[in-house]
Parts: sequence; structure tokens; C-alpha cells
Amino acid sequence: MNTDQIVRTFTDYFRERGHEIVTGGTLLPSPADPVLFTTSGMHPLTPYLEGRPHPQGRRLISLQRCLRTTDLDEVADRTHLTVFEMLGSWSLGDYGHEQSLRWGYELLRDGFGIPPGRMYVTVFGGDDEVGPDTESLVTWRELGLPVEPTRDENWWSHDPVGLCGPDSEIFVWTGDPGTPPQDTPTTDLRWVEVWNHVSMRYRRHDDGSLQPLQRPSIDTGMGLERLVTVLQGHNSVYDSDLFEPWRRLLPPLWNLDETSTRLVCDHLRSAIVVIGDGVRPSNTGRGYVLRRLVRRVLTTLWRSDPSRTLSGLPDELLGHTLDHFRQPLGTGPVREVLVDEERRFGRLLERGRRVLGRPEFNGPLSEEDYHYLHDTHGLPRELVTTLRTP
Ligand code: ALA
Repeated sequence: MNTDQIVRTFTDYFRERGHEIVTGGTLLPSPADPVLFTTSGMHPLTPYLEGRPHPQGRRLISLQRCLRTTDLDEVADRTHLTVFEMLGSWSLGDYGHEQSLRWGYELLRDGFGIPPGRMYVTVFGGDDEVGPDTESLVTWRELGLPVEPTRDENWWSHDPVGLCGPDSEIFVWTGDPGTPPQDTPTTDLRWVEVWNHVSMRYRRHDDGSLQPLQRPSIDTGMGLERLVTVLQGHNSVYDSDLFEPWRRLLPPLWNLDETSTRLVCDHLRSAIVVIGDGVRPSNTGRGYVLRRLVRRVLTTLWRSDPSRTLSGLPDELLGHTLDHFRQPLGTGPVREVLVDEERRFGRLLERGRRVLGRPEFNGPLSEEDYHYLHDTHGLPRELVTTLRTP
């Protein structure tokens, strides 16, 4: 199945079970929301999970793009991306957790053809505040799947305060198909988490206390790129059809090792999406996240060849990304933003080299030096460190 077929299988399955599609959209939360970017499928639905009636009813699904900077250092491993899409399903006070788990299992097994022997699930095993999630445990046992109970890893919350609850995660074995699965999700990385089902039934208050919700809901999220990777039998998200044009067009342009290739693919693709959603590079907030993404790409590219430039980025890569994320912006304006940022960064590096070449900066730098370099010359600490690394 290609990515489009996978998305259609998900949406068809849930539509047959009474769910309405909520048009998932921009990475930018509503203006009143203090969060920089949407980080999960449930994020735009928070008011409805808190009890407000949704105009499309109580059974919803969506495909929502998300951005997580918390995973930035894990990018270039097998499964983490900065911008990714989440397939989500919700029951707003309608059906319960057991039904959600049963449908989830059935879709993975019958809709996507994952053999039950390659699945493992985790459930909340209880802690000092809340007892074990026996409903999930019993459901999974009835369905015949192996279950691993955990504490912290099966408790979901978007923020330290607000909606939260126990969750149950479905893992798929990605080891060699010839050998039977081994160990458990928490002990073997070849178990890859594909789907999280949260039983949203508490609110955490500022003082740390937990209050049961009058109307509990179900919130599920499945990372599309991971699912695609698992279903297509690839070892990493970068080998899936989502990255096909990147893998074809980048190597002839820039000869990079595998880790650098992955980082460049992830960050450029993410930068394009962020620009497509209207963000421009700046020194604060969303613009700073974008700036960091582009500058990390340039630092990687220029490490072995400072003449590399984003102006040569094939149009197909820009177009493929904008199309995939259903963004109307043309490739020309996106390229302009990238190239403009490249120029600025190039000038900053030049200035940095000149300033750091002065004799007073030969030895170790003090905190005062860092402040001076930042405040007077606009050189962030991270950049100074990079420039001083031989
Ligand atoms: N909101 C849950 C998650 O992001 C489903 O994992």
C-alpha cells in the first residue's frame, strides 16, 4: 500500500463506523493558544475533549500535521521526524476504551494485514495515584495479544496541567521477518509503537491533584510515517515512499553520509511545511524554530563544502512537500525564504569568523565573552561553539 491508500483505509474504516472527518490543517494553533506549534492530533480538539459539543458530532477522525522540537535530537534515527502527520480517532463521550482498542486491533489486522503474532501492547500498570488499567488489560487478553504493563510510559498528558489519562500503545515487530519476535516493547527497539489509545478521563490541576472528568473521551493517535514504514517493510521512515523523491534527488546534489542525509531531508522538509503555513525566519518563537531548522541544514552541508547552496534545491522536492501537505503556496516563494535565510546565515558566519579570529578570543571563552559576542555581534553560543570546533 502506498501512503494515500493507507490514509484511505484508515478513513474508510472509521467512516463505516460513524466517524466524521475533521479537516486537519495548519501547524499553527489558534492565536489564543500559547503553544508554538500543534504537537498532536488532539491539540485542535482540546475544547471538545473538555466538553464543548463539536459541530460534526461525537465520533471524529483527522489527519493532522504536527511539529515536535522535543524530538529534534532523535531525528535521523529510524522513526522520529520533526514534522509528521498523525491519524487520529476520537470518541467525545461516546463509545469507550474497550471499543476503541477492539477497532484499533481489527483495523491493523484486517485492514492493514499485520499478523497478530507481530503485535504487542502496553497498558498502564497503575501508580500511587491511579490503579491499573484493567479494562485494557482484559480486552487485550481476550483479543489474544501479549501485554506489558508500565507506569510512566502509559500515562498521557498534553501539558503538565489539563486533560490526561492512562493509555495503551500498540507496537509492531519490525525485526527480521524470518525470526520470531523477541522480548517486549520496553526492552527491544525492534518493537515500534504505531498507535496510542488514550482514555482521557482526568484533569490535572495546578496543585497537582487529579479530578475525574464528568464526560470521559477517547483520543487516539497513529504516526502516519511510522505506519507507512512498518507496512511497507522498511527499516526507517526515510526509506518509505514519502521520502522517495528526496532519496532520489539529494545524493546527486550533495554527497552526504546517511545520518547527514536524513537530517537534511527531515529539516528541509519540515522547513518547507513551516514556511507553507506562513512562518518566516526570526529570532523568536516559531520563526526561531524555522531559523534553527534551516541553519542546522546549512551547518551540515557546509561542514565539508561551503559552496553548497539551497538555491539548487530541485523544484520537485519543494512541490512534492507542499502537495503532500496540501499547501497552496508556490515553490518560488518558499525557495526565496530559504535562500534569503542562507544569505543571512552566510553573512553571520563571516562576521563570526572575523570576530573570533581576534587574539582576545584565542583561549577559552568566559560567560562575559559569550554575552558580548551575542549582544554586540549577534552570534549565538551554539554558533560560536561550531565556529571554534576545529
Ligand atoms: N494524543 C495521543 C498521542 O499523541 C494519542 O499520542
